Amino acid sequence: MPMPRKSAFRTVLLLAALSACVGQAPRAPAPGAAPVAGGSPRGEFQNLQVLPDTISRAALTAVMRGFSSSLGVRCTHCHVPYEGAPPDSLNFASDAREAKQVARGMMRMVRRINGEVMPAIPELGDQRMQVGCVTCHRGAPRPLMLEDTLLTVARAQGADSAVAVYRALRAQHYGGFTYNFGERTLSTLAARLGAEGRQAEARRILELNVEQFPSSAGAAFELGRVLEALGERDRAIAEYRRALTLQPNHRPAQERLRALGQP
Ligand code: HEC
Ligand code: HEC
Repeated sequence: MPMPRKSAFRTVLLLAALSACVGQAPRAPAPGAAPVAGGSPRGEFQNLQVLPDTISRAALTAVMRGFSSSLGVRCTHCHVPYEGAPPDSLNFASDAREAKQVARGMMRMVRRINGEVMPAIPELGDQRMQVGCVTCHRGAPRPLMLEDTLLTVARAQGADSAVAVYRALRAQHYGGFTYNFGERTLSTLAARLGAEGRQAEARRILELNVEQFPSSAGAAFELGRVLEALGERDRAIAEYRRALTLQPNHRPAQERLRALGQP
């Protein structure tokens, strides 16, 4: 484990008995626990740099639970266990996890957004919303859009891997608020792949879209477009026809069929 950077880490023993992440409030130190050398006399926590030293345990626990649920992580995402101790006894005062340091920066950022940046937009008035961790994170440690995640996978490992990741994420997150599994996500992803000249990958993604949204004329049409770009004229015509079956007045499909000399 990396050496703690802050002097306050002399005090690691105090919280040794805390049970992490099991949903109940952390316990107070055992009666008679050794006094903390150099620890803050004001509060019971050792290494608060953003939150007020005087914060109550209940309030701190509520903040920490909010972090965990906003990011969809457990306490261990930001807090390391004691060396040699069971992994559920966490050294909360330690800054050894980089994510904890990042979280401090995020706390300061959110404070500035709510305290300075938003108040500087007078049109918002006094009833303006407060930005919180969840406003951006939506249950993910890195608040990426689903199409961004899939684009990264598709670029690095190809479209079949992106399809596999889509299926896995859907199985885990569908109905949650982290990812949008709507039709536009795959269609945006395919457009971005197409713009990079990756037509074959775009086609694979649009086939997935058609599978997920079999009654969408738009999805059929977009698959038709990429098939046409790949020179698969007959399959493109079939998709345009399918789009028209689903939505008889689908103008772009009518136009493509006419351009391809279809009645
Ligand atoms: C996203 C990162 C993150 C997660 C997840 C998280 N924490 Fe924290 N925690 C922090 C940060 C950052 C601080 C320090 C805040 C400061 O400097 O004011 C902290 C401080 C604490 C402290 C005070 C330690 C001390 O003595 O200085 C306790 C106790 C704590 N967290 C408990 C928890 C528990 C319990 C959970 C799980 C329910 C949890 N944390 C989840 C980031 C996190
Ligand atoms: C304005 C949007 C926004 C808000 C609000 C926000 N974050 Fe973040 N956060 C981000 C972005 C974007 C990243 C990813 C940065 C990157 O990796 O390039 C991120 C990354 C992080 C990470 C590192 C992710 C990881 O893999 O460990 C942590 C921890 C984190 N945020 C904690 C918080 C906490 C705690 C709050 C609330 C106090 C918060 N964030 C509020 C946008 C936000």
